[in-house]
Amino acid sequence: MSHYQLFPDLKIGNAHIRPRRLRKNAQIRSLVQEYQLLKSDLIYPLFVSEKGTSRYDIPSLPGISRIPFDELSAEIKQIQDLGIHGIMLFPVTDKNKKDPFGKESYNPDGLMQCTIRKIKEIAPEIILFADIALDPFTTHGHDGIIHENGEVLNDETVEALCMQSLSYAACGVDFVCPSDMMDGRIGAIRYALDKEGYIGTSILSYSAKFASAFYGPFREAIASGARGLDKKTYQLNPCNAREGIREAQLDIEEGADMIMIKPGMPYLDIVAKIKAQCEVPIAIYQVSGEYAMLKNAAQQNIIDEKSAVFESLIAMKRAGADLIVTYYAKWVCEHIL
Ligand code: PBG
Repeated sequence: MSHYQLFPDLKIGNAHIRPRRLRKNAQIRSLVQEYQLLKSDLIYPLFVSEKGTSRYDIPSLPGISRIPFDELSAEIKQIQDLGIHGIMLFPVTDKNKKDPFGKESYNPDGLMQCTIRKIKEIAPEIILFADIALDPFTTHGHDGIIHENGEVLNDETVEALCMQSLSYAACGVDFVCPSDMMDGRIGAIRYALDKEGYIGTSILSYSAKFASAFYGPFREAIASGARGLDKKTYQLNPCNAREGIREAQLDIEEGADMIMIKPGMPYLDIVAKIKAQCEVPIAIYQVSGEYAMLKNAAQQNIIDEKSAVFESLIAMKRAGADLIVTYYAKWVCEHIL
């Protein structure tokens, strides 16, 4: 009989099936929890600035700083002590080392090269991921080389990316991570690495990288001066899903060891689709704009930071991510895991 007696004949639909039994208390809930977030899932993006610079807190990424080369040891120790295994490196290149061709990207004594060597020397077990693209090194902020008519040149850029990859491989990087979205670059980079004997250097390809408004704070972080720059002739159209799957398939055929989808939260459908069709491990990049949104909302007490951040990351695992690159990595290890 109904409690309120409004509907004396009220029948609870399928009354013998009650999913709430498995949500009864925290112990039962954890027993049936399908996905877990682990420290070993996380990769921390690290902005490194030139020797002699000082630490700079990035205004649009509260809690994230540019770490000067000379302060790397302390930073790496802190990251390791927190239990993080992987770091994704980004250089903040001195303005006067930039040119239209991004040549500094393959300078054997460039900031990235020195950083990779230094980290491998002090913490060889840390897995180092290095973004491959020309934007931290070009005066115009594009990921590639530009023709005088404004076009971003594909094949010329791929050649530069091969030089950049070889240069990082020579310093001992574990993963080169092309984020430029030029056609055919994975096959070309694999060819170049193998030819020069770097058969052990892996490729994590940013396969489905969308032309997103969520990269704004990153461009400030590396001082690329390209906040609103239009990269739509190479990054993917946010209106498309199949294009993302095609890019992932091509990259795997060309030899990518792992692939990445980026940004994260707005593109979890792409992750799920790629997961269903591809066999290699999948990484997601929770990008700067996603971090900034969560951080700002938390700082204004609009959301509870711990639950919102956990929810955003576990959603990525549920969608199919094996690895997550996130500015929250350190914070999550300190406050959640
Ligand atoms: C550059 C690159 C970008 C990011 C990673 N690598 C920016 C861009 O494509 O303009 C963005 C990361 C972030 O927003 O956190 N090739």
